[in-house]
Amino acid sequence: MTDALLVDTDTDTDTESADARRTAAATWWRQAAVYQIYPRSFADADGDGLGDLPGIRSRVDYLAELGIDAVWLSPFYPSALADGGYDVADYRDVDPRLGTLEDFDELIAALHERGIRVIVDIVPNHTSDLHEWFQEALAAGRASAARDRYVFREGKGASGEEPPTDWESVFGGPAWERVEDGQWYFHNFATEQPDLNWDHPEVRADFLKTLRFWSDRGVDGFRIDVAHMLTKDLTEPLPSRAELEQMPQDGNHPLLDRDDVHEVYAEWRRVFEEYDPPRTAVAEAWVSSPERRAKYASAEGLGQAFNFDLLEADFDAAEFRTVITDNLAQAAETGSSTTWVLSNHDVTRHATRYGLPPLAGRPVKQGTEWVAAGGPQTDIDRDRGLRRARAATLLLLGLPGSTYLYQGEELGLQEVAAITAEQRQDPAFFRGGEYDGLGRDGCRVPLPWSADGPAFGFGGAVAHLPQPAWFAEYAVDVEAADPTSTLSLYREALRLRRLLQTGEHLEWVETGRTDVVRFARPNGWQVVTNFGTEPFPLEAEHDAVVLGAIQAGAVPGESTVWTMPDVLSE
Ligand code: NOJ
Repeated sequence: MTDALLVDTDTDTDTESADARRTAAATWWRQAAVYQIYPRSFADADGDGLGDLPGIRSRVDYLAELGIDAVWLSPFYPSALADGGYDVADYRDVDPRLGTLEDFDELIAALHERGIRVIVDIVPNHTSDLHEWFQEALAAGRASAARDRYVFREGKGASGEEPPTDWESVFGGPAWERVEDGQWYFHNFATEQPDLNWDHPEVRADFLKTLRFWSDRGVDGFRIDVAHMLTKDLTEPLPSRAELEQMPQDGNHPLLDRDDVHEVYAEWRRVFEEYDPPRTAVAEAWVSSPERRAKYASAEGLGQAFNFDLLEADFDAAEFRTVITDNLAQAAETGSSTTWVLSNHDVTRHATRYGLPPLAGRPVKQGTEWVAAGGPQTDIDRDRGLRRARAATLLLLGLPGSTYLYQGEELGLQEVAAITAEQRQDPAFFRGGEYDGLGRDGCRVPLPWSADGPAFGFGGAVAHLPQPAWFAEYAVDVEAADPTSTLSLYREALRLRRLLQTGEHLEWVETGRTDVVRFARPNGWQVVTNFGTEPFPLEAEHDAVVLGAIQAGAVPGESTVWTMPDVLSE
């Protein structure tokens, strides 16, 4: 199967050999800027309060102007929204509230026409409890073939009234739920997300069908949800929670990052290679070490894996430098390219994280403690958070590898804390687990498209999560008209990145300062980030600043500049 070549940004396309073009088409992801869309909160075309596919389509010009290479669509499949769409009831359809398959086809065509690739989310660890397989399993009763597709067990106690183990779900609370006839099923996440049994051939075959279904519709790649959780060793006797926690995650853990999961991805790779260009994939794999992560990124497997190390790092020069060095070395070893991420739909927005007050003498990581404490928004230095966020993003966009941006960060959006318990949707909020405290709704509030009008131009009269009044300051129409806005900065950075992007290497440049990070790319492009507050003087020959601002010949505190000695010809 061959796809029509997408718009090529290279200038010398005419003279490129067919081989070179094929390689370029097959490796587009290596240094791509990918923009994550959380469809229910992006744009609402039918005005029902939920974002939808026609809404995204209506904003394709915005995406093209932003200058990204691809979009990653978080789940848009039929779902009861027990976990924001990560509870999938049908893997090969569109949620009727979000549109139809025809809408999907039109969206993908419109994006491709603008040279934007499309990645869709695959959620293979669990289905929704509304999936026909689970409904069949409930109806079929114990010891049925239908129950084999999931993880059903008898309970403990005289009449099986206790769960098989004391395991906890990631979202908090027990990981087992009892069904009417007395059996229990296992769910790593919410009760409405029963885990699949990946030893079952029908489960494996069905996902191959799903991968082909979307590949045939033209998607360019896949983001694999909790890619490290699929396979399990549930041989009796099952360990206790305490025992489980003590077990090393070395490939043989009963639940996490098992070596045998890579057999699944080797099979998927063969499907990806049926297409021309081959479909790509990126694993969401929260594993114990970069070495374990590399297995997901191998060319025989998914090809790329998220590196969340910068997302977890403080705004700190030494931490950034170590993370960058380690991940580039790792990518070079595996032949993959690394990914850089500061925000996504699961974490406190980075403009807010970076403005949090110091806790116990150091900045708070991720914002989870602040979120857990229900942190009053007044504790945050928003200006500082935004300044640092802009500096960190410019650093990321200068790095070799691909960068994943999360909708709204291009506006410098802050996390929303003022959402009442009644308005909250995240199961993690209600179950009080890993993302405890306020949960993840605060980064999923629908985007402000205009400073005025209902729901800040999101679509209808109201948005499905409440938008605070201060969203007006961050509205797209306000920022588009302001050359100093975060949106203007992202647009300019993404435009220049396309022109400057070069081989996947960097060299550190000595700065004599522990709070300044500086590196050069092979073509002379330099990135200088001042993590401190003292200005960092720049030599005269490097004052060809192409992005960011210097003041009196120096890089101001908490900012990044890009320099290029041979100033770009337009
Ligand atoms: C990771 C996703 O990013 C998150 O949003 C979801 O809740 C869990 N996986 C479960 O699917």
